[in-house]
Amino acid sequence: MAVKAGSLPENPSEMRAAAMKHLWMHNRGWDELAEDEPIVATSGHGIRINDSEGRSWIDVNGGYMSVHIGYGRTEIARAANKQMEQIHYFPHGTTSAPAVQLAAKLDQITPGDLTRSFFVSGGSEANETSVKIARAFYRRAGHAGRYKVISRKESYHGALGLTMWLGGSTGSSGRADYEPAYPGMVYAPQPNPYRCEMGGESPDECAERCARAIENLLLFHGPDTVAAVIAEPVAVPPAVAVPGDGYWPRLREICNEYGVILIADEVITGFGRTGKMFAVEHWDVVPDVMSVAKGIISSYLPLGASIAREGIANAFSGGPDTKFFQHVLTFAGHPVPAAAALENIRIIEEEDLVENSAIVGAYFL
Ligand SMILES: Cc1ncc(COP(=O)(O)O)c(C=O)c1O
Repeated sequence: MAVKAGSLPENPSEMRAAAMKHLWMHNRGWDELAEDEPIVATSGHGIRINDSEGRSWIDVNGGYMSVHIGYGRTEIARAANKQMEQIHYFPHGTTSAPAVQLAAKLDQITPGDLTRSFFVSGGSEANETSVKIARAFYRRAGHAGRYKVISRKESYHGALGLTMWLGGSTGSSGRADYEPAYPGMVYAPQPNPYRCEMGGESPDECAERCARAIENLLLFHGPDTVAAVIAEPVAVPPAVAVPGDGYWPRLREICNEYGVILIADEVITGFGRTGKMFAVEHWDVVPDVMSVAKGIISSYLPLGASIAREGIANAFSGGPDTKFFQHVLTFAGHPVPAAAALENIRIIEEEDLVENSAIVGAYFL
């Protein structure tokens, strides 16, 4: 095999030229970049990052709304390094102390009996896992016909083969490349009080009408064909749509009434973003399955989790081998991100960052 000669890019202009030639960036085409782009972030501290040109920027979005504790927290680097030096992975069929401790920690900080965590590498994988749990749960419960998933228009739940078809907007060009859609997708209105598709004139009216629309969809499709409703407590794509207060409690009631699994996608809202550790706590709702990522590790390493209530998880044990959850990912339960996430959650708790988020959020509002 021929070896390509040449050294790796180092100075800013070499770096930019090499990025233009070799790097497939997220969310941007390389032909759309300006002459002095891409910005190459080289270091960071708190809310600021520095780039390869020596400039300093405030990262208003906090990464992808995912750098909860800020940049440059060396405690996280130390925790990851310590774990990596001790043991960086695990033999097939075993686990590690940080994975066990993180699962126990998530049980402590999540509402209700969300007791069992399946670890993955990010938010899309977490939602993919949550939907698979819902479908597999019903097969084990003798209701294999329950496979449909209700999501809301304008929601975002991920970019994978299944999750990319949850939510979304009409004519969303990003999806046209990947037709045909995943089977069993059912779309409900977004309870967006600013532009309520159901004509609700107040947040409460919009919430009630949009929740009722989900019930109507359930009845139309037949509840015995629906496995789950998935929703973000606060949807970010429609300019951060905070639903009226009645929405989540009604959703919980409807899912209870028709025996449908309620999945809360807390990927972007979790770990303090909304002034509570998890946004569903604003409405005292316990979902059946919760997807988390981003803030669980403040983006220091890739990590997500799908956290199930005890009653859901128990359906996967106590029987023949085929009852266990058949969903294998090499990096699921990786000890290094688990150790880093434990340190991240320690910082969130010790520095009262959830309370701080409530205070700063009210100020910004
Ligand atoms: C609510 C929500 N769910 C899922 C995802 C997908 O997460 P990831 O990009 O980590 O796969 C995102 C990402 O922005 C999100 O905001």
